Amino acid sequence: MNTGLVTASYIAASALFILALGGLSHQESARRGNFYGMLGMGLALLVTIIGVVTDNQLFLIGGMLVGGAIGWVLAKRVEMTQMPELVAILHSLVGLAAVFVGYANVLEHDSSITGVEQTIHSVETYVGILIGALTFSGSVAAYLKLSAKISGKPLHLPGRHFLNLGLLILAIWFGVLFVDAAASGGGLGWLLLMTLLALAFGVHMVVAIGGADMPVVVSMLNSYSGWAAAAMGFMLGNDLLIVVGALVGSSGAILSYIMCKAMNRKFVNVILGGFGSKSAAGDSAGPAGDAGDIKPIEAEEAAHLLAGAKEVMILPGYGMAVAQAQHTVFEISKKLRDQGVNVRFGIHPVAGRMPGHMNVLLAEAKVPYDIVFEMDEINEDFPNVDVSIVIGANDIVNPAAQEVPDSPIAGMPVLEPWHGKTTIVLKRGMSTGYAGVDNPLFYKENTRMLFGDAKDSVDALLKHLNE
Ligand code: TAP
Repeated sequence: MNTGLVTASYIAASALFILALGGLSHQESARRGNFYGMLGMGLALLVTIIGVVTDNQLFLIGGMLVGGAIGWVLAKRVEMTQMPELVAILHSLVGLAAVFVGYANVLEHDSSITGVEQTIHSVETYVGILIGALTFSGSVAAYLKLSAKISGKPLHLPGRHFLNLGLLILAIWFGVLFVDAAASGGGLGWLLLMTLLALAFGVHMVVAIGGADMPVVVSMLNSYSGWAAAAMGFMLGNDLLIVVGALVGSSGAILSYIMCKAMNRKFVNVILGGFGSKSAAGDSAGPAGDAGDIKPIEAEEAAHLLAGAKEVMILPGYGMAVAQAQHTVFEISKKLRDQGVNVRFGIHPVAGRMPGHMNVLLAEAKVPYDIVFEMDEINEDFPNVDVSIVIGANDIVNPAAQEVPDSPIAGMPVLEPWHGKTTIVLKRGMSTGYAGVDNPLFYKENTRMLFGDAKDSVDALLKHLNE
């Protein structure tokens, strides 16, 4: 294939990826953004297979068909609540691919590259494998944590910061030795040692991070996977891989920054495991009362309160996703709006288990975008709210973030329904949320607990509203 045509196609694919990112930044255009992304990836694959790869095409297509089939089945099977785990494990594959490509490159030593060019090439390979290996092991650890296959509690080894520093110094040292040895076609031993270090570092970095800070970790690993791909692009001299890697790397970094800001965390502190980790399972952040202080409510009375309200705020969380209650929640909001109640939805930036989780569910249930508000837009309005319904949310409405200075979530901005007249909390029992911290909201004077699966509770609410 003509190299000019390959370049032009790569530019077109890059433009489609940029359009995809632009589209994904708004709910209304997200579907279109996804479509651009698929088109860009289709074009990139096609041009690479027929225009860049010179042999073994059949082998390549066979591998792609097997990989594509596995991806298809996984995507079909995955529950919405398991998406973060799927994303984490997919990031691990990007890291692993970077490691394999890097090793293949070293094993196929190209003796025509010499001098400074050889040094640059070796550094690119080394950095690519380093980022790839830590992305791989970190993502596997994140997958295990998110899917509760290992404990979500932060694991802090003694002197962990020194351990990290030691690993970093060793990685740089091995890098110098590798670049030196690679000039004469050697250095594989140093590369293997560094890979082991990077794998250990990835696991250590992720297991040290507290539960509530996992969103930042997932987007950070997303960013790393992009940089690993970009490093591979430099190594292989593939412009498209550099552009795509940089897009993924920078958008992941921006998302990590936005997450940190939303949670009032410093990025460096999250990475070093300094936050979200002060105590285990809420031992120092106990509620301002005991279980005897909670005031349960029945669906009929809750429906009565809703029907008599002028201002209603709906605050969805992870439990709404688990129960798949969003469609009935929409019906309730529609019913109340038809009766002249001003209904709004308040969305916390880390509600659920992935960025935009609640927005996706509400959009799926056809909730109009103009009644869905970000936390910052509505937090000041709670004093005017008659009834707030918290549906399967916990950490995102936890006043301990403001009231308990040594709480693991201290300082994290939260939705503040307790400033309104009445808060009705829909959940099954008194379990803690993802961060493992007790929630004083459930014990407040103006809070009522509607116990049960969120879907059953909203069904009952709707039934009574219709009566
Ligand atoms: P959580 O704090 O995890 O609380 C969810 C609550 O829902 C639980 O306390 C649970 O209590 C209840 N629940 C579960 N299944 C239910 C069901 N079927 N029906 C009714 N209630 C149900 O959720 P949140 O408030 O949305 O906060 C999100 C948390 O996840 C934050 O800590 C955040 O940092 C973390 N996180 C977020 C992300 C992103 S990017 N959004 C990614 C990873 C982690 P019961 O068991 O008593 O019912």
